[in-house]
Parts: sequence; structure tokens; C-alpha cells
Amino acid sequence: QAAEHYQHDFAGEKILVTAGPTVERIDAVRYLTNNSSGRMGYALAEAAQLRGADVTLISGRLEIDVPEGLTYVPVESAAEMFEAVTSRMEEQDIIIKAAAVADYTTEQIAGKMKKKDADLTLTLSRTQDILKYLGTHKTHQYLAGFAAETDHVEMYARGKLEKKNADVIIANNVGDKSIGFKSEDNAVEMFFKDGTSHVIPKMPKKEVAHEILSQIKRDRHVR
Ligand code: CTP
Ligand code: CA
Repeated sequence: QAAEHYQHDFAGEKILVTAGPTVERIDAVRYLTNNSSGRMGYALAEAAQLRGADVTLISGRLEIDVPEGLTYVPVESAAEMFEAVTSRMEEQDIIIKAAAVADYTTEQIAGKMKKKDADLTLTLSRTQDILKYLGTHKTHQYLAGFAAETDHVEMYARGKLEKKNADVIIANNVGDKSIGFKSEDNAVEMFFKDGTSHVIPKMPKKEVAHEILSQIKRDRHVR
């Protein structure tokens, strides 16, 4: 197991990881969500814990076993995730936002909506950008965001790094069907504040997670 090659190099650190999709309810039985499997976030939480960190995992509901010994906070909507993350941000050393947060939500209708003859228009309103909020309000925390892109990966990832004031953006090419979302493997590129980047080639998500943590550790030490 990859974990045995690492010492407890994150001992004493508090790391918060968000994972999975959010769910925005339309009515009692319908909702808006996305394809996130949560696996990358769970792998990061588990890897951080194996390396000695005190880990909080804030996640949309998934059918994945939660690694033992970490603090698990299940959430549903983007608004719930915002609350869960921001209320715990102060005590964290590192925050990794791997969740696929809904960009839009809709007002929930009570009960189960009845269909009518006419078409239905849903009004979607913007959710709060959690990562951007963290970037604006952080004091000492190292902030890692993800970027799911289908094209112009570097340009969009660097844009998000800047706009959200993150310390690193970990870019996923979700256009590549062999990796990302539901896959067991992932390949990412990390874009750092100093203009450098680091490619992690396709490998199991657990190994990608360890490599991401090692890169975060390195980047924190060079500043
Ligand atoms: N994110 C967030 N809160 C939101 C939306 C996104 O915290 N309401 C975070 C994600 O967890 C991720 C990063 O922002 O770490 C980038 O998410 P992504 O969806 O790639 O970018 P967006 O800024 O939402 O832009 P777009 O979807 O248009 O590419
Ligand atoms: Ca988005």
C-alpha cells in the first residue's frame, strides 16, 4: 500500500476536505445534482488521515464507506455545505475543496409538484461560491480548489486560482472519459500561485491523493 511509504508528515495538522455532489431539491421527490462520485475527495481525506492529520470530511451523501476516525459531516445542498465549511474554517490549516458544488439552486416547492398542460420553467438562482468566500476570508489557511474543465484547462484553472484567491487549483480534464468523475483513476495538473505547475499522470485516485498532498506540503514550505 502506498500509505506505508509516507511517515506521519501531516501530524498535528487540521485538514478539511469537501467531497461529492450537492443536491438541490425541486420538490419532495425531485432534485438537481451532478456526476461527482466523491472518490477523489474521499481518497484525499483518507490519505491525509493516514499521514497523521486531523481530518474533517464534509460531503454530499454517497454510497461510499466513510474512512474510520475522521470527523464526517454529511450535507445536501450547496447552502448546507457553505454553512458546514465556513463555520469550521477558522481552526483549519489546510482546506481542500474537491466537492462538485451546484452553481445554481431553485426554491423548493412543498410536497410533490403536479404536472400541468403547459411547459414548466424553473428559475435558478446562483449559489454562493464557497471557495471564493474562503479565499476572501482566509487568515492562515492553505486553500486548494479543484477545477473541472472540458477545454482550455490551463487558462480556466489559472483564472480560478486568481478569482478565488486559492493557493493551488487542481485541474481535472472532465472531457477525457477515461479519467475523472466516475473513474477509479485520475490525472490532474496542479497550478500554483508562483506560476509553476505540476502534472500528475493517470494513476489510481488513492495515489493521486498522496501526490497532491506531497505537492501541497512542498508548496507550503517554499513560501
Ligand atoms: N466551488 C465552490 N462553491 C461553488 C462552486 C464551486 O466552492 N458554489 C468550488 C469547487 O469546489 C471547486 C472550485 O470552486 O473547488 C471550482 O469549481 P468549478 O465548478 O470548476 O468552477 P466554477 O467557479 O463553479 O466555474 P464553472 O463551473 O463555470 O467552470
Ligand atoms: Ca461550477
